[in-house]
Amino acid sequence: MKIFVTGGTGYIGSHTVVELQREGFEVVIADNLCNSRAEALEGIRQITGVMPGFERLDLTDAGATRDFFARHGEVDAVIHFAALKAVGESVHKPLEYYSNNLNSLMNVLASMREFGVRHLVFSSSCTVYGQAERLPVTESTPRREAESPYGNTKMMSEDILRDFARVEGEMNVIALRYFNPIGAHPSSLIGELPTGVPNNLIPYLTQTAAGIRPELSVFGDDYDTPDGSAVRDYIDVVDLAKAHVVAIRRLLEGRNRQNFEFFNIGTGRGLSVLEIIRAFERATGVKVNFRVTPRRAGDIEKVWADTTLANHELGWKAVVPIEETLLNAWNWQKHLMQ
Ligand code: NAD
Ligand code: UFG
Repeated sequence: MKIFVTGGTGYIGSHTVVELQREGFEVVIADNLCNSRAEALEGIRQITGVMPGFERLDLTDAGATRDFFARHGEVDAVIHFAALKAVGESVHKPLEYYSNNLNSLMNVLASMREFGVRHLVFSSSCTVYGQAERLPVTESTPRREAESPYGNTKMMSEDILRDFARVEGEMNVIALRYFNPIGAHPSSLIGELPTGVPNNLIPYLTQTAAGIRPELSVFGDDYDTPDGSAVRDYIDVVDLAKAHVVAIRRLLEGRNRQNFEFFNIGTGRGLSVLEIIRAFERATGVKVNFRVTPRRAGDIEKVWADTTLANHELGWKAVVPIEETLLNAWNWQKHLMQ
């Protein structure tokens, strides 16, 4: 079985390619390398013993995307990771985000329809829930108006997929709503690439522990949470990668109940920023210099997933303990500094 993975040299994509190849799938990656490096391919090869197919391709180019499918038209399914993902940047560059994230999705869909590729797994986000009134969030929790153009591209992408699947009866789509993906492969051969000053908690924390940043800011300790700091559902990137493999199998084996489905992919457990810092220190023995600062604009207070649907329907469950995930993130940080 051959799977086309867009954005496959990126953070979550590269880990998913590893899991797909381990399960015997043949993979062809398309990525324009706007936020990743071709070296990820070598990391994947070292872990799995197999070099995935790769083409440098901008999926916003409809003609180039079509040519790609024309050449690899016999693929069985697509996993579409490719997107720009920096929330803050999207506020300043809305057109770039709408253009990149929506055009690439539509080009992929148009080519899938033309070449008869029927199965798609899409990267969505828990950002579609915003600050939910009731926690944990289930798939029936109402979506909320997006806080950023990036978040809006995920809402709009889900809407495009729903409308597309409604009229294209042969097409089967699963959208996975990721909670907060963190960590790196235990081999330290692939992980998240830092770009400038990190916005996300874990890369900032590991860079602080490594002495690259003087201190970590804990954005707010006055939230309505047990210790006052904000709570998220941190999902190990290898666990997350495996969710894609089971979603692909569900589609290929025709076990999906509708032709557009979506699932929460998290651990089901919320952890605060302060709990993460303590877990990191426990796991690595390294102290993290931090200071509580005011809340970050646009942040929600708390969110975590109800994963019952994914557990039952996909037969998938997050299993990696948080300390192990944080140790992998730390080892990846050390690898980057070698
Ligand atoms: P990433 O930036 O590491 O990977 C995305 C990849 O897509 C990159 O390799 C980039 O070069 C490529 N890409 C972007 N635009 C492209 C285009 N027009 N043509 C070809 N390639 C293009 O990001 P990631 O963290 O691996 O995220 C993967 C997906 O998961 C994205 O859709 C993202 O929005 C979604 N997601 C990520 C998170 C997170 O916290 N990392 C959370 C929820 C959802
Ligand atoms: N935080 C700090 N200090 C930092 C960075 C973050 O205290 O230096 C806190 C934030 O305030 C938040 C938590 O750590 O409470 C997690 O923040 P991240 O920036 O790592 O993640 P977010 O929950 O803000 O957003 C992430 C992705 C989004 C995605 C969302 C849901 O960045 O793209 O998860 O998947 F939409």
